[in-house]
Amino acid sequence: MKAVRIHAFGGPEVLQLEDVARPVPAADEILIKLYASGVNPVDWVVREGGNDALRAYLTLPMTLGWDAAGVVEELGSAVTGFQKGDAVYGEPNFPGNGSYAEYCAAKASQFALKPKSLSFTEAAGVPLAGLTAWTALFEHGKLQAGQRILIQGASGGVGSFAVQFAKAKGAYVIGTASAGNLDHLRQLGADEAIDYRSQNVEELVRDVDVVLEASPVRDNAARVKAITVLKEGGTFVSVNVDFPFDEAVQAALAQKKATGELSNNQPRQEWLQEIAQLIDAGKVRVFISKVFPLAEVAEAHRESQTWHVQGKLVLKIRPDGEPA
Ligand SMILES: NC(=O)c1ccc[n+]([C@@H]2O[C@H](COP(=O)([O-])OP(=O)(O)OC[C@H]3O[C@@H](n4cnc5c(N)ncnc54)[C@H](OP(=O)(O)O)[C@@H]3O)[C@@H](O)[C@H]2O)c1
Repeated sequence: MKAVRIHAFGGPEVLQLEDVARPVPAADEILIKLYASGVNPVDWVVREGGNDALRAYLTLPMTLGWDAAGVVEELGSAVTGFQKGDAVYGEPNFPGNGSYAEYCAAKASQFALKPKSLSFTEAAGVPLAGLTAWTALFEHGKLQAGQRILIQGASGGVGSFAVQFAKAKGAYVIGTASAGNLDHLRQLGADEAIDYRSQNVEELVRDVDVVLEASPVRDNAARVKAITVLKEGGTFVSVNVDFPFDEAVQAALAQKKATGELSNNQPRQEWLQEIAQLIDAGKVRVFISKVFPLAEVAEAHRESQTWHVQGKLVLKIRPDGEPA
């Protein structure tokens, strides 16, 4: 089968389209015939050799990509709940061999039935960013209906899902983005949209229950400012787990009697099922900004590295209409 692998860490030029053996599923795994793979910033972070949180877990050579949509081709001997031919989506094997390939074997628990209303291409843009938003909002942020949330980086992959999940939950959502994306935030359902470049969020927002840092900004002084908009007892959640809170952030949190959480996404089947239900009910939309053929993965990485993708980038592995 074809797969995009790296044999060394480095720039986009290390991505190689190769022929490799098709994986064989272990007892608790499914083999998925992949139709599309999402592209996420962590893909090029790993390609470059990882960050402090990841470096120790990376081995070469490896197949990148941790966002998959496809059809179940084979079942491991202990797998229940899926059948051959099921259309599925999920987040396979992070940070091991992933979804830039024609087939992928991964734990069945990291997959769920694909939302029926989405194509494979659209579905591949959901799992990693969607699970990141879900974990941060509900597992760490404990967001409840009626609460107020500030979402930084609301137009990106993670942020776009976070805005929609928070609205679906019944929260009041304030999102930040650059000027050209403010209308997009309103389309997503944000109650307020703030331009982080020309407006001062700390002067405009107060008394929020949760701040979600879903932007790529890694700056503890900026976090201290953001914590000032929290209610006493609120929660500051960051998905930038590779960038710990410093003493100034801890002091700002203590002053507000607030909690600080670093949130790593969890690839849970039951959350993928809930996300699929929200999508099929029309409550959450998927925004794909560009689709690339698998062979043009280097171009997709260059685009992701701009940090200004609206929604998601996807690699097409085989035509959506190809029979399972
Ligand atoms: N812990 C985890 O499990 C996990 C998983 C996935 C991602 N992440 C992290 O989550 C962050 C977002 O990832 P993503 O996939 O959503 O990235 P993305 O799709 O590239 O989106 C990034 C968004 O950030 C905004 N942005 C860029 N520069 C900014 C700045 N200086 N200030 C404020 N906002 C800015 C952009 O909005 P505009 O274009 O409107 O400026 C863009 O929409 C990254 O730091 C990533 O490493 C963590």
